[in-house]
Amino acid sequence: MHDSDTDLIYSQAHKQVKNFTFDAQVVEVFPDMISRSVPGYNTIIDTIGRLSQHFVQENSNIYDLGCSLGAATLAMRKGITASNCKIIGVDNSSDMVKRCKMHVDAFKGNTPVNIIEGNIQDIKIENASMVVLNFTLQFIEKSQRQALLNTIAKGLNPGGLLVLSEKISSDDNVIDDVLIDLHHSFKRDNGYSELEVAQKRSALEKVMLTDSLELHKERLAQAGFGHASLWFQCFNFTSLIAIK
Ligand SMILES: C[S@@+](CC[C@H](N)C(=O)[O-])C[C@H]1O[C@@H](n2cnc3c(N)ncnc32)[C@H](O)[C@@H]1O
Repeated sequence: MHDSDTDLIYSQAHKQVKNFTFDAQVVEVFPDMISRSVPGYNTIIDTIGRLSQHFVQENSNIYDLGCSLGAATLAMRKGITASNCKIIGVDNSSDMVKRCKMHVDAFKGNTPVNIIEGNIQDIKIENASMVVLNFTLQFIEKSQRQALLNTIAKGLNPGGLLVLSEKISSDDNVIDDVLIDLHHSFKRDNGYSELEVAQKRSALEKVMLTDSLELHKERLAQAGFGHASLWFQCFNFTSLIAIK
């Protein structure tokens, strides 16, 4: 027996595996899916909360870009001690946004939260002290990633922080294969079958395109972040901090 919130989307053979989308079916099982698929997800969310304590400045805006169900937003709302701030969560999946609003409303907090349905590439970033891209940039067209990072850097106040978490690929094929194998064994240990792993991989193949760590760092420097560092890596899952 499984709970209705267990991710079984790829447990049966699909005649044709469609490109992955963040639709209502995914929303139903998203917390289970992400915690069983992304090594270190809970650590990253906790750390985003911790970082918000240090970096969020009074009278500023905080952005959670590709907020899904609001896990990072809620962690920041708990962590923020600065007064008169506002969190803006943005996602272009209407199913996610609907459910996210319910999640956010279910908890109390001092910092107001505004969840917006929209494309993060069209959002004006202004007076920001912290911006989160937690496994979202990988869904943006590669050719448009630099422009988005430039907009974020421009909208951040001096000393402001970007948290950029991404699945990465390695330019070294031998290393890349090892990290992919380790990730797949992590998924199998979390109860996903070979069939589920294979079908999910093919669903994501065209919609989630990964870059190397070196390229991420180059883009951050190019966008004008004076300081950037990897703070988390487990297999091919990483999180970076970049400070303006
Ligand atoms: C892997 S999930 C992010 C997880 C989430 N940040 C968290 O910490 O739980 C990627 C999210 O980005 C959203 N997304 C992808 N492309 C987007 C875009 N161009 N504009 C807004 N949201 C986007 C998807 O709908 C999805 O909810």
